[in-house]
Amino acid sequence: MMQLREISDFHTVHTPELKERAQHSGRTTHTRHYIAQEDDVELAFVSIDCWPVDKPFFLYELFVARKQRNKGIGTRILQQIEKMSIEQGYRSIALTPKPIDNNHDNYTQRQIIRWYEKRGYRPNSEFVRQFDKQLFLEKPIEGA
Ligand SMILES: CC(C)(COP(=O)(O)OP(=O)(O)OC[C@H]1O[C@@H](n2cnc3c(N)ncnc32)[C@H](O)[C@@H]1OP(=O)(O)O)[C@@H](O)C(=O)NCCC(=O)NCCS
Repeated sequence: MMQLREISDFHTVHTPELKERAQHSGRTTHTRHYIAQEDDVELAFVSIDCWPVDKPFFLYELFVARKQRNKGIGTRILQQIEKMSIEQGYRSIALTPKPIDNNHDNYTQRQIIRWYEKRGYRPNSEFVRQFDKQLFLEKPIEGA
């Protein structure tokens, strides 16, 4: 089963490219870093900003290890992140789609946007470049 292991120190990450992300990814007081792993195999680095629950849960960085891509792992991690944010009381997830592995064969900005759109994320009407996904459908107005 896939797990999100929270890390406070990049030295606990063994896979070099994930360790490098963990080392260089920024942190605020609300940032949490995770390694997604399955059967002790490190699959991805995830950075999340957990602001108060009246704000969106912000997925700051999702980086799947290069040889693990295109196997459905990124999608499964996104599902797990959505589940985690619902459990913590958030109503939406926000992110800024942007390729962050520029030196390697990777998605373009457009492909990253398409990847998130296919998984239900839509441009935010207020914040430029931000996409989000509502985690709950609005309650229908009774009697309407
Ligand atoms: C963008 C990124 C997170 C996607 O992760 P991934 O694990 O490759 O994503 P997935 O495998 O779930 O999806 C990629 C494609 O593989 C396909 N795929 C191949 N085999 C699959 C399988 N066994 N199961 C499910 N999907 C599979 C999917 O259909 C998907 O194509 P689609 O978007 O047209 O549906 C990854 O490329 C990455 O980490 N890039 C570098 C970091 C980066 O730039 N991140 C940007 C966000 S901050």
